[in-house]
Amino acid sequence: MIIAVDGPAASGKGTIARALAKHYRLPHLDTGLLYRAVAANVQRLELDPGIEADCVAACDFDESLLDDPILRTDEIGKLASVVSAHPLVRSALLHRQRRFAHQPGGAVLDGRDIGTVIAPDADAKLFIRATPTIRAKRRHAELRAHGSTVSLDRVLLDIRARDLRDSTRGTAPMTPADDAALLDTSFLSIDAAIQRAIALVEART
Ligand code: C5P
Repeated sequence: MIIAVDGPAASGKGTIARALAKHYRLPHLDTGLLYRAVAANVQRLELDPGIEADCVAACDFDESLLDDPILRTDEIGKLASVVSAHPLVRSALLHRQRRFAHQPGGAVLDGRDIGTVIAPDADAKLFIRATPTIRAKRRHAELRAHGSTVSLDRVLLDIRARDLRDSTRGTAPMTPADDAALLDTSFLSIDAAIQRAIALVEART
């Protein structure tokens, strides 16, 4: 069984994907981490994120980079959104994601284009949403808990900029697949969102 979980930053898609993987005992891939690793490599090698060939060179990263806490920072998240807009970066990461999705037994993948590009044949596709203000509040609380003093307004601006870039790029823009179930987590607790996601998968498999 392949489960595709897409949606914007701080929508809850990562939490939901991990819970689904646990519930169905499937391996899980957070595909955003791959783009974040490319971004971190671009930064480390002092390459230009605006130049496609530079970003392609950065796709050849060491596996250990995926465990580096720097990948979780907001700065790298923003940079990931820039490097991921290059079509050749997306194709460099495509096969790895498709292989993961199509392993025997299945898998859960979360990202922006799982249901549309990576696994259009997924058995269940969820597109997770929440209002930008609510997503900004969640991300702000998370950043504050890690010692950041960033303002809520700044976080909201960043979220809106990232949504715009991710949903308007020419290649694999963030958009729900035609056959995706939409799940709005704006006013749901984490537990309620997970239960709803399981019910949606059950209804589709
Ligand atoms: O989900 P996360 O915030 O870690 O993703 C970081 C960035 O990577 C996103 O803003 C998006 O630009 C890019 N991304 C993507 N396609 C995916 C996963 C992430 O373009 N499947």
